[in-house]
Amino acid sequence: MRIIRTKDYAEASAVAAELMAAQITLKPDSVIGLATGSTPCGMYANLVEKCKNGLDFSAVTTVNLDEYVGLPAEHEQSYRKFMNTNLFDHVNIKPENTHLPNGMAEDPEAECVRYEALINSLGGVDMQLLGIGHNGHIGFNEPSDRFVCDTNCITLTARTIEANSRFFSSADEVPKRALSMGIRTILRAKRILLLITGTDKAEILKKAVYGPVTPEVPASILQMHPDVTLVADADALSAL
Ligand code: PGA
Repeated sequence: MRIIRTKDYAEASAVAAELMAAQITLKPDSVIGLATGSTPCGMYANLVEKCKNGLDFSAVTTVNLDEYVGLPAEHEQSYRKFMNTNLFDHVNIKPENTHLPNGMAEDPEAECVRYEALINSLGGVDMQLLGIGHNGHIGFNEPSDRFVCDTNCITLTARTIEANSRFFSSADEVPKRALSMGIRTILRAKRILLLITGTDKAEILKKAVYGPVTPEVPASILQMHPDVTLVADADALSAL
């Protein structure tokens, strides 16, 4: 794992955007895996600026890590809406080349199979952006006694529901389930860009990078991937 230490969130966002832009410049038809959450917002803002300055998304395809079950695309808190608002509406990507699991699918299990097959049909992910949850989750792969391999329907933990309730008027409104790429789906990406900032992530980052590889800390599996670049600010690295 390469670790790039930045002084703060703004610099981490700029560096991560630079790495993503380099991927797109070197391979204009890249398949990029994207993530939601507070952390990547600054990076997406940087990518929007880069697009205004010539970075070309016209041949790029994106696949997002996850989506809530039961939220329609136009819901303010759906991840489709987040991606449209933060990135897709402001760059020259073709809407039909942007993919998320369909949280409204009548049969969530069948939707997981479809999404996994879609990623395979695209030839896999060239660069996957990841954040990390306070409990070590990647995508919505929560701590467990085994690594879940393929795209799957996940029951969120109380910790994740609590963390995500800041975007809803109450914790009761947070969907209890989500569709998420599995651990094997994520690990198949050729390159992984892990973006982590803030003191509240310092302890879990230490466990993920230096602790034992265990499904209790899903992000620890990234120690097994041959091409991970961690971009983290000084706060997130403060426990290392
Ligand atoms: P955050 O979420 O960027 O909002 O902290 C990260 C995650 O849960 O993966």
